[in-house]
Amino acid sequence: DWNASGIIEQQVEKIRRTVGDDQVICGLSGGVDSAVAAALVHRAVGDQLTCVFVDHGLLRKGEAEQVKHDFVAATGIKLIAVDASQDFLTALKGVSEPERKRKIIGEKFIRTFEKAQRQVIEKAGKTGKEVKFLVQGTLYPDVVESGGGDGAANIKSHHNVGGLPKDVKFKLIEPLRTLFKDEVRAIGTELGLPDQIVWRQPFPGPGLGIRIIGEITQERLETLREADAIAREELSKAGLDRQIWQCPVVLLANVHSVGVQGDERTYGSPIVLRPVSSEDAMTADWTRLPYDVLATISTRITNECPGINRVVLDCTSKPPATIEWE
Ligand code: XMP
Repeated sequence: DWNASGIIEQQVEKIRRTVGDDQVICGLSGGVDSAVAAALVHRAVGDQLTCVFVDHGLLRKGEAEQVKHDFVAATGIKLIAVDASQDFLTALKGVSEPERKRKIIGEKFIRTFEKAQRQVIEKAGKTGKEVKFLVQGTLYPDVVESGGGDGAANIKSHHNVGGLPKDVKFKLIEPLRTLFKDEVRAIGTELGLPDQIVWRQPFPGPGLGIRIIGEITQERLETLREADAIAREELSKAGLDRQIWQCPVVLLANVHSVGVQGDERTYGSPIVLRPVSSEDAMTADWTRLPYDVLATISTRITNECPGINRVVLDCTSKPPATIEWE
């Protein structure tokens, strides 16, 4: 039978043995998984841990500020914030294919961590301790869907699964690799993380990059960021946050349909709402949101997001569809 404090004890012991007195860095995404992984490693090795938050330019509205302030306030963990958005967006220029997007983003993350590693070493100064270890919040379902489970097909190469490029010197610490999301939340609570971190809805590491169907551009990102903020705000206002697992908001950038806004004919792109209910993201059902909430979100998105003249609802379960569109 499963018990959070037992798992914590076991992992803390194992992490201490692995790390010794070396330095560790942890990529924080703002999501539950990396936050819990960081808290666990912090419990094990304290100040030997430095978290690195990478702004890849694919974040949601307000997300960078939230991580920089709330996470540090809640945990007291050392944090380096890196703005790498230009770097990521340049690498993603002209790329539409989902798996290529993920590969590029995964690779860029690692390169950004390497730079952060040098900073940590410089700061640690005379101690001469290396940063050998990189913590990732990989969960069991990520491993399975990336084809890492026994005989599993590769459905999506989750950006943080599948090992590191050959020339990288990090050793990975993945303390959540055998766990499901509900277990990770229980561990987070047991470690004293606040509800607003533990109960955050999942958000993929590649961020809005895999929610723009088609090429990622600055302008499309701004549109999607605004639409996503509206949907999140209205869902929260309606008290639905705990009822839905997550609600991806997707921009079909290459699809155009005719609309009429003001007195003008428009030829704009649709936004898709993808509210889902799930236990572990391996399977999901589409959430039957109240019509009035959908109506408010739709009206606001078409009024407030330039270039959007239609909002559609994704009413497909997983399977046959996945949660994210890419
Ligand atoms: P799918 O779309 O595979 O999503 O049904 C299952 C869960 O995983 C999240 N997801 C990702 N998370 N990197 C991540 O960290 C990724 O590349 C990635 N792709 C999907 C998705 O948001 C959902 O919660």
